[in-house]
Amino acid sequence: MQCHAVPCSGRLSFQWPAGCKRCAVLLALNIVALNIVVIVFQRPFLCQQLSAKSPGWTGRTINRTNPVSRVSQLENVSDTVTVRSVNPVDSEKRYFQSCLPQYFLDHLTKEFYNLAVRRRDGLDVFLETYISLWPTDGLVMFDIGAGCYASGSDSDSTLAIKFAKHFGCAKNRFFAFEPQPDVFMKTMQCLNKELFPDRFCVALENAAFSNVTSRLQLAGKANVASLTGHLAESGHKKHPAKADRDYAKSMEVMAWDVATYARLHNLAKIDLLKIDTEGHDFTVVQGALSMLRAKEIMVVVMEVSDKMNPDFWGASYQGGKPVFHSKHIAEPNVKSVWQFMLNLNYFGFWLGTKRLVPLSGACWDDRMEICGDPHGYLNSGICWFDIIFILNQGYGAKMINEILNSK
Ligand SMILES: *[C@@H]1O[C@H](CO)[C@@H](O)[C@H](O)[C@H]1NC(C)=O
Ligand SMILES: *[C@@H]1O[C@H](CO)[C@@H](O)[C@H](O)[C@H]1NC(C)=O
Ligand SMILES: *[C@@H]1O[C@H](CO)[C@@H](O)[C@H](O)[C@H]1NC(C)=O
Repeated sequence: MQCHAVPCSGRLSFQWPAGCKRCAVLLALNIVALNIVVIVFQRPFLCQQLSAKSPGWTGRTINRTNPVSRVSQLENVSDTVTVRSVNPVDSEKRYFQSCLPQYFLDHLTKEFYNLAVRRRDGLDVFLETYISLWPTDGLVMFDIGAGCYASGSDSDSTLAIKFAKHFGCAKNRFFAFEPQPDVFMKTMQCLNKELFPDRFCVALENAAFSNVTSRLQLAGKANVASLTGHLAESGHKKHPAKADRDYAKSMEVMAWDVATYARLHNLAKIDLLKIDTEGHDFTVVQGALSMLRAKEIMVVVMEVSDKMNPDFWGASYQGGKPVFHSKHIAEPNVKSVWQFMLNLNYFGFWLGTKRLVPLSGACWDDRMEICGDPHGYLNSGICWFDIIFILNQGYGAKMINEILNSK
């Protein structure tokens, strides 16, 4: 190619000959093309080969004499082994009698507030406590907003890595998504480091999620980047708590909706849909609506945050004026989200480090809308909690029962 023949002068003005520019562009295109090839082809070919040789995970032991599950052989969610022993009506009765709003408020910062406890600790505890209730193979897990900002057990590490370590690579499928190219590359390095030699156990894709499949505009960068429009429009050029994070700077990214992605990848169900998209979480949930309606998603984990709606954002950073349900709070808020999910037969919980607290239906208390009054509850504008919704059917009903039975 011509590039090789054109010498690049080392002049500091960087007035390179035309051939060098082309060279750089071709190199960049090659890197992009190589990544696409790696991402598209890595999983089906390499995961099984590598995992067959690897010694297994520290978490649960995988019975490797069983044939490796294929997508087409995934169990019907409502037809797993644990399903028949559970009567969903029992979970329902128990759920609505096990309300603990006062416990939640009394232990708010110590057990539920992600800024005070280590991030996602509640989810870690949940995964560890109820690990035996998940199907033993054929699990499908989505980690949306998977960006790796720190490795190891740190809160900002990639959750899909934890999933893979918990559940094992051989028979399960893990999908991780990160839209920002620089964070994507870092995340790939984390996968390489943490999952070696089973690095291809997690299929990592450079994409965002929303309620449509389209190219969309991302506002902000690093771990506060979001597709949520009100942030860029709020007049805040920078995140008030993170002065270096500029909301004005945005890029166009590829976004999927969950249902379309699952259909194109021939996924009949999703066992765990984890969403961490900085205020865009409920829009992502809406993109999964057809699957939620069909009971094809068992567990949804998402964030409640100061970015969830313009009112929360305002209460946190624009004058600190609190908002309450007695007046009106912009949607989505926790109340509107649980109403949406309860209609679909999903029961919600606050994810705490010691216990899960019911938050839907009769268990709701308007005081639980913490991000409406963050300065009042948390002495901080930063509002940040995890909630989980579990389908009251199949092994989900069993999970709900066990959670409510725990002390
Ligand atoms: C592993 O799977 C095989 C085939 O299904 C079964 O016969 C065997 O008992 C299993 N072993 C364990 C330890 O579960
Ligand atoms: C899943 O199981 C239910 C109940 O057994 C059945 O009605 C439904 O057709 C099954 N769905 C699929 C995709 O097999
Ligand atoms: C997607 O979400 C946005 C923002 O929440 C909303 O304005 C839009 O109408 C939604 N589109 C669809 C197709 O649901």
